Amino acid sequence: MAGPLILGIETSCDETGAGLVRGHELLADAIASSVEQHARFGGVVPEVASRAHLEAMVPAVDRALAMAGVTLAQVDALAVTAGPGLAGALLVGVCAAKAYALALGKPLYGVNHLAAHVAVDQLEHGPLPAGVIALLVSGGHSSLLLVRDLVGEVVPLGATIDDAAGEAFDKVARVLGLPFPGGPHIDRAAVAGDPRSVSFPRGKYHDGTADFSFSGLKTAVARWVEAREAAGEPVPVADVAASFQEAVADVLTRKAIDACRAHDVGHLVIGGGVAANSRLRALAAQRCEAAGITLRVPRPGLCTDNGAMVAALGAQLHERGAAPSALDFAADSSLPVTSVLA
Ligand code: KG4
Ligand code: ZN
Repeated sequence: MAGPLILGIETSCDETGAGLVRGHELLADAIASSVEQHARFGGVVPEVASRAHLEAMVPAVDRALAMAGVTLAQVDALAVTAGPGLAGALLVGVCAAKAYALALGKPLYGVNHLAAHVAVDQLEHGPLPAGVIALLVSGGHSSLLLVRDLVGEVVPLGATIDDAAGEAFDKVARVLGLPFPGGPHIDRAAVAGDPRSVSFPRGKYHDGTADFSFSGLKTAVARWVEAREAAGEPVPVADVAASFQEAVADVLTRKAIDACRAHDVGHLVIGGGVAANSRLRALAAQRCEAAGITLRVPRPGLCTDNGAMVAALGAQLHERGAAPSALDFAADSSLPVTSVLA
């Protein structure tokens, strides 16, 4: 097997991820999630997530090494999510990665979580061409980026002005009595629903910007459900889930394709947890095909947070000969998407 061996560590939210990549090849992706510990609170509790990372970190790295059939001593370089994310959660991964790097005497890259969501696609679909539009949709972020070069030039085109797309999924799920995190539950419930049964608002659809707004949609769903309940009528969960999901997928794909056209770009990459959504994937495929745009979306398991995505970005930086991060770099909970390296 060719290429350097890169260990990637991810702890920005509630997933403890350790991934191993050799060159452009994914060798191992070990994930421990604390999601069940947060479910009864209806959202990620930062302190609980940090403690869970502490317990899961070393076992996750050991599991990744075992999966790949390699030893720590064989690792050529490390990468860790430096931000954005929950400060305490990020710190656990950053401290662990620094300790491994120092002990092994190997270079460490403190990398951007959002860029890593884009980088991971290359493990499945090969190197990104120069010039792609990236639609990043997760629990904390929704943005459109013009990626001229993932490790060189990332231009933000627009972002949500209120809730992130994943946040809207999570909040609407709560309104519908579905468990946290809501995205996968809405996705499943929607299968049996009619996406045309309720016409929910599509925020900023016609405003010509690359920005998003999901707060009005979320409120509209809540009001619709409340009205049914007040009238003593049952809430058709599947129909509401399908109609809500349709509104989100419609706005996201339309704006992403508009951005491709505006910048004369022929490739769209979708990443982040919401990219696991089946309707978003299907609608994006349909609209990209009609527009002559090549769509790239990682398989669902690589869309949600994981260590492989961090390793993929680390491998790319290493391949380019980027200078590693100084060992005193800080975790930065609001690291801007334009900073690929901390
Ligand atoms: O990227 P990610 O794992 O973590 C962050 O960086 O935020 O994204 C998590 C978000 C959650 O809001 C979750 O509900 C959403 O991604 N999500 C989905 C699906 N799977 C996860 N949303 C819609 N459909 C899904 N299948
Ligand atoms: Zn993420």
